[in-house]
Amino acid sequence: MKNVNGIRVYTAGDPANKPLVFIHGFPFSAAMWKKQIDKLKDNYYCVSYDIRGLGESEKGDGLFTMEMFVDDLFMIMDELKLSKPVIIGLSMGGYILYRAIARNPERFSAAVICGSKPEADGNDAKLKRADAIKKINSVGAEAFIRDFIPTTFWSESIPVLGNEFTEFLNGLIFTPAGSLKGCQLAMAGRLDNTSALEKTELPILFICGDYDTFSPPEVMKANAALCKNGKYVQIADAGHLAPFEKPDEVNAAILDFLKKPA
Ligand code: MLT
Repeated sequence: MKNVNGIRVYTAGDPANKPLVFIHGFPFSAAMWKKQIDKLKDNYYCVSYDIRGLGESEKGDGLFTMEMFVDDLFMIMDELKLSKPVIIGLSMGGYILYRAIARNPERFSAAVICGSKPEADGNDAKLKRADAIKKINSVGAEAFIRDFIPTTFWSESIPVLGNEFTEFLNGLIFTPAGSLKGCQLAMAGRLDNTSALEKTELPILFICGDYDTFSPPEVMKANAALCKNGKYVQIADAGHLAPFEKPDEVNAAILDFLKKPA
């Protein structure tokens, strides 16, 4: 574990191996990737971190932008001297990933995108962000998180995961309201990175749960088709949090993809 300018960074595996950088979604922490890292660390150097404002990273003033989140990613890569990692992002982590590829595609060797899309928020999505902020102000951060987290899973996964789900949720309830609102505004203000996706030669694996309501299968399939080297894998019986809900299937898809990066 390392602190890089306020960002909590976790490493696992041998630094001599190919680096993988994991970026979590909103409002999670690096812990959401535990089931991937436990499996992949034997053959890859796994780097994960808590996005500014979330997990154990510095909370700051909650005034975040997507550009700032990408700056943090590049800062971590510089600090750890990571050479052309494979970048792996879920949802908001995917937004950071898309923007990083738009800014500096040459810094990566491949990407894995779970439940995320390259477009900017349209009017409806922006209004949803405004509602989320209003809700955080009225019910508080903890109640917001208790309502929000179940929507990121396929409803039938929750009873199957049982205590594991409860522990996961309990690890998030102390997230400050300012961080939640700051992330919502950063996501609302992000750019459209679709043209970067169309241009890039990077091999990209798109992973989507059957029941992902945030970036549904038809959206992710269409994005994979925009890519020169895109591959789409759908995970049965999983929602937005497919890597946590169905780790074996997601790990198998990532391992199969990593065997053949360009
Ligand atoms: C996430 O899971 O990172 C976010 O909920 C995505 C979003 O709100 O657009």
